[in-house]
Amino acid sequence: MKPNIRLRTRVLFCSLFTVFFSGFLSAQEVQLDFDYFKNEVQPIFLSKREGNVRCIQCHTRSSNFRLQPLEENQLYWSDEQSKLNFDSASTFVLAGEDPLRSRFLTHPLSADAGGDPFHGGGKHFHSQFDPEWRIMADWVAGATARREPSSIAIRIIQTNAAGDDSTIIDPATNQVVGHISDIEIPHGVVGAPDGSQIYITNEVMHSLDIVDARTLRVKRRIPLSGRPNNLGVTSDGSKVYVAIMEMPGSVDIIDVASMKNIKTVSTKGAIHNVYVTPDSRYAVAGSVHTSFISVIDTRTDELVWDLEMSSGIRPMTFDTNADGSTKNIFVQLSGFHGFAVVDFESRKEIARVEHPAVPGEEAHLDGLQGAPAHGLAVSPDGKTLWSTSKVYSHVYIHSLPDLKEIGRVFVGQHPEWITFTPDGKRAYIGAAGDNATYVVDAIKMEIITKIPVGQVPKRLAMVRMAVD
Ligand code: HEC
Repeated sequence: MKPNIRLRTRVLFCSLFTVFFSGFLSAQEVQLDFDYFKNEVQPIFLSKREGNVRCIQCHTRSSNFRLQPLEENQLYWSDEQSKLNFDSASTFVLAGEDPLRSRFLTHPLSADAGGDPFHGGGKHFHSQFDPEWRIMADWVAGATARREPSSIAIRIIQTNAAGDDSTIIDPATNQVVGHISDIEIPHGVVGAPDGSQIYITNEVMHSLDIVDARTLRVKRRIPLSGRPNNLGVTSDGSKVYVAIMEMPGSVDIIDVASMKNIKTVSTKGAIHNVYVTPDSRYAVAGSVHTSFISVIDTRTDELVWDLEMSSGIRPMTFDTNADGSTKNIFVQLSGFHGFAVVDFESRKEIARVEHPAVPGEEAHLDGLQGAPAHGLAVSPDGKTLWSTSKVYSHVYIHSLPDLKEIGRVFVGQHPEWITFTPDGKRAYIGAAGDNATYVVDAIKMEIITKIPVGQVPKRLAMVRMAVD
């Protein structure tokens, strides 16, 4: 990989600045911050780096650097345990001094990057620019909060439903620029609006995994009340709503500031997808099992109304009135090759559109999992509705509000989900049967390229991501 000269110069300047600045302060004046340690440094002890064992696996017993053991099913340390970890790590730190004088920083750092010669636990960081090593070094320098990111980038994150990773795509180049690993069966993905972190539901551990946008490591796993499916985030970034796919059914609400699961709202049936409406006033949840749509008011976090449809609720999306409030819910249904339209105000189904066969295209009826049409989105300008068909491997494009079909594009085997770039020029579609993400020119309605990703790519999302 080509070194990023600009970044290096900037980082070098920062570290020189830290060293220079700390020359004025005696070591006693620099306080090691507990909250920063608890929330930013500790995740590094749990995260999986390729080729390394996690710090926690050894340090509950090896050496004098002691981490508190976690009970089975305990996903993070309590405050008391964190305090003990903090005290132990602090003994290997010279606060405010040259980072290369702290054993805590030199031991896991490669010798040729400035680390010491040997660590019984191996070398975890191969450069002082490693984002995780920098989080630790900033703690030693007295940081109380993360550095500001250098910029925010737009990315497409494709989860791979049968893979152990999610693929990160740069829509400016359509290249794969990263991976998020260590989440087996990632289901849904959404990004924090400020770009700081990414939320992915973990079907194996029954957790909401918070991924740091700059390190790409799981920073925290929040325990859920059951097996999760999809999720949604409010536009102010304060709450995440997680679909719990277990009867009798519920939506878990995660408070982002405290990283706590604050409420489990009962719904009409196990929930497959939950969405936050574009104005963030409601969380709309759908049940495949009971065919109910459950609507939660995000101010009170109470269920305010529900609606039973003719069959199971699959993907949904929304269009808006001039004031931004929700106008219609578009909904795909079990066993129906098309979508229905629900008027949000009257809470009634008002229309249904069935997708016709595509001439010359063979119908695929195997492995549909009850959902012939799965993947639905309104374009950012609100003028078109895109619906993907697993039967005919196409996306059907309809004009809004008149719901006339205006185009069709082949988008691979088993297309499952769709998202747009914020400018509306590109649509990205996860094609589960092709292990690829298709990129469609949304204006010309034609394929630009297809990007190989992991096994069985389903959900994907456009996210803003902080860059170090
Ligand atoms: C495979 C087991 C293993 C892993 C993983 C591991 N360590 Fe260690 N670590 C050791 C052993 C053994 C020692 C004692 C021998 C030595 O000093 O190298 C040690 C020593 C240390 C020391 C010095 C403590 C002392 O008593 O002098 C620090 C600090 C440290 N490790 C930090 C870390 C950090 C941070 C990580 C994760 C990034 C980590 N270690 C991962 C096994 C491990």
